[in-house]
Amino acid sequence: MKRNTFAALVALSVTFFASGAQSAPDMHSVVRGGRLYDNLSLELKIRTPNQFNPVFKTQQVRASMPDTWRCVQCHGWDYKGVNGFSGINGKAKADPAAIVAILKDANHKGFDDLLDEVDRVDLANFVAYGQNDMAKLLDLSTRSKKDLGASEKVFATVCANCHGLSGDKLRDIPPLGDNARQHPVQSMHTLINGHPGGEMPALRTLNEDTVAKMLAYMQTLPTVNLPGSIANGGRLFDDWQVQTGRIQAISNPTYPKTSYYFNVPSETWRCKECHGWDYKGDKGQNAKGNHFTGIKGLREMAGADPQKIVGILRSSVHLFGNVMKYRDLLDLANFVSYGQVDMDKIIDPRTGLARGDAVQGTAHYRTMCIACHGADGHFVAKRTLGRIAKDEPWHAVHTIMNGHPDDYMPALRELDPKVISDILAYTQTLPTKR
Ligand code: HEC
Ligand code: HEC
Ligand code: HEC
Ligand code: HEC
Repeated sequence: MKRNTFAALVALSVTFFASGAQSAPDMHSVVRGGRLYDNLSLELKIRTPNQFNPVFKTQQVRASMPDTWRCVQCHGWDYKGVNGFSGINGKAKADPAAIVAILKDANHKGFDDLLDEVDRVDLANFVAYGQNDMAKLLDLSTRSKKDLGASEKVFATVCANCHGLSGDKLRDIPPLGDNARQHPVQSMHTLINGHPGGEMPALRTLNEDTVAKMLAYMQTLPTVNLPGSIANGGRLFDDWQVQTGRIQAISNPTYPKTSYYFNVPSETWRCKECHGWDYKGDKGQNAKGNHFTGIKGLREMAGADPQKIVGILRSSVHLFGNVMKYRDLLDLANFVSYGQVDMDKIIDPRTGLARGDAVQGTAHYRTMCIACHGADGHFVAKRTLGRIAKDEPWHAVHTIMNGHPDDYMPALRELDPKVISDILAYTQTLPTKR
């Protein structure tokens, strides 16, 4: 079914749009060149040198070390140059052999060891025959916002297998809709050449109209579902290792060696262990006792730009970029920015008692909790709910709002904080022993 639709689509497209080739170049080589241009480390499954590309010395531009080894980082998604470098558009239709020579010149030192001759020829073929006029394609895309039915069908059959019908299934990348809206030229390059190191089909041989319409269709796909993302971020905050299945064997180097849980590696990686169930770090419940680390809380980050928080999570303090996927980091960032509640409004920080009304909470408990946890709160959880609600009320509230990592407990954060406080008040009256 998938193959048939794709074949039909190819058959429908009459004009090829490899720019300006007299004799048809080898399209496989051109699209592979396009993927190498995007990210040769992913395409070749190799590591780039453990140093900044010496040619990349624009101090003002923040680029990660591996990114300075990507052609696109200097020559741009529109091939017109970026970060102070000139484009490759002047070399469209140039002799590929001359381009191969450029890739060995002093401006491209270091690439010698990364590329072999086949790679260089593919890159040269891309530069010579594979550069599309991105401004023209974007314009075409903007003008074809209607009649996207055919693109919808192609997306549902060819793309949805990997990306999901909403384009948000892959957790390594932002939802396709977001990327298509925020970085349309980059999305276009990927559509035409495929994704480095991936098995995604390249649409280069389809006509321009088909490709432009696919971008227009992708721009209609939804963004991240914010409430769902926040609640998932809350569960990751609780225990991202359990939630993602990536259990860490050695202690987190950022966790203070003198603090209580240093010899329990899994605990040292939990956000809540350093930043507290009340999100206040050393200014809240973690100010003393076994959970003391002296690390600040996250309250100041409420309302901050989630992308900035993603950056903090990838920084050398946390190193979470190595163990979590982009979407997990985004969920955590959304939780930190939009999902923190002021626990002091729900719980008296001095006594740990809920500010709510246990009588009111009874009815809520009986409708929302009893089916799983039982009338006395003795089922499902290892400790009784009465025990958790009394000993760790902040933990209980966090769980009621966000659910439990890798488990079926619903996230009830859409409830009024007053209702949550009432439920907590009731659970604090439940027996602590089974
Ligand atoms: C660190 C930046 C950087 C990276 C990465 C880089 N180049 Fe270049 N490239 C340059 C510089 C510098 C020049 C010389 C022109 C200029 O001053 O911008 C150049 C010139 C070129 C030219 C000739 C442009 C012209 O019109 O004369 C081509 C083609 C080219 N690069 C292709 C590539 C390809 C393909 C890659 C990836 C394998 C790549 N470059 C990676 C910096 C870079
Ligand atoms: C065989 C699986 C597969 C199919 C089929 C597929 N893709 Fe992809 N696609 C991927 C993977 C994997 C990535 C990159 C994930 C990563 O970076 O790790 C990707 C990345 C992309 C990107 C770049 C997004 C970004 O943030 O970098 C776009 C755009 C895209 N795909 C569009 C499409 C479209 C449109 C189709 C259908 C014509 C399609 N893909 C079909 C697997 C697929
Ligand atoms: C081993 C302890 C530790 C763990 C675990 C930890 N962090 Fe941190 N975090 C820190 C330290 C240390 C800082 C820097 C505090 C400072 O600047 O004084 C920090 C800072 C932050 C900040 C910036 C706060 C601000 O106001 O500047 C955010 C946001 C953050 N962490 C989120 C998280 C999230 C989300 C997790 C879980 C995925 C997490 N952290 C896990 C130790 C930790
Ligand atoms: C659909 C079933 C379900 C419902 C409904 C449900 N829970 Fe849970 N709850 C769970 C599961 C499963 C766990 C995880 C138990 C474990 O693995 O320790 C859990 C865990 C908890 C925990 C944390 C226990 C711990 O040790 O970490 C608290 C507190 C809690 N639930 C309170 C509530 C309250 C209060 C309600 C009603 C507002 C409720 N739950 C509704 C299934 C449910």
